[in-house]
Amino acid sequence: MRIAVVHGPNLNLLGSREPAIYGRTTLAEINGQLEQLAGELEVELEVLQSNAEGDLIAYIQEAGARVDGFLVNAAGLTHTSVALLDALLAVGRPYVEVHLSNPAGRERFRRRSLLAPRARGVVQGFGTESYTLGLRGLVAACAGAHE
Ligand code: DQA
Repeated sequence: MRIAVVHGPNLNLLGSREPAIYGRTTLAEINGQLEQLAGELEVELEVLQSNAEGDLIAYIQEAGARVDGFLVNAAGLTHTSVALLDALLAVGRPYVEVHLSNPAGRERFRRRSLLAPRARGVVQGFGTESYTLGLRGLVAACAGAHE
């Protein structure tokens, strides 16, 4: 099984970006935790972070043919991007939405996710553990789809 991990805008700054909200763990450390879990679960990972919406969309289009699912933290684009949602729907692979913080408890504009209604699941508010919980859920869902 092969999973694509997609990190959206500003997540490259994790570690120093608003640590009271997002913690001190860097993106490289999160990716390391995901790689370790992927090894335990015996799945392959590929990872992309981009600050550019178009690059994320191009990547989803191209990766869609070779991966079984997407683990997505679309960051600010979660709340705005119909185009990112459309790319995920176009490739027809299950995706799990994750967030470090709990956007439901933050500013009003973060309470709506354009991705959530079509996601296989959503994990938010658990810091870096949102990613590992999300990966476990996604892998289980993809494994179920193969049964
Ligand atoms: C975030 C939450 C979003 O509202 C915000 O724009 C981010 C990070 C999170 O992981 O908590 O950039 O996706």
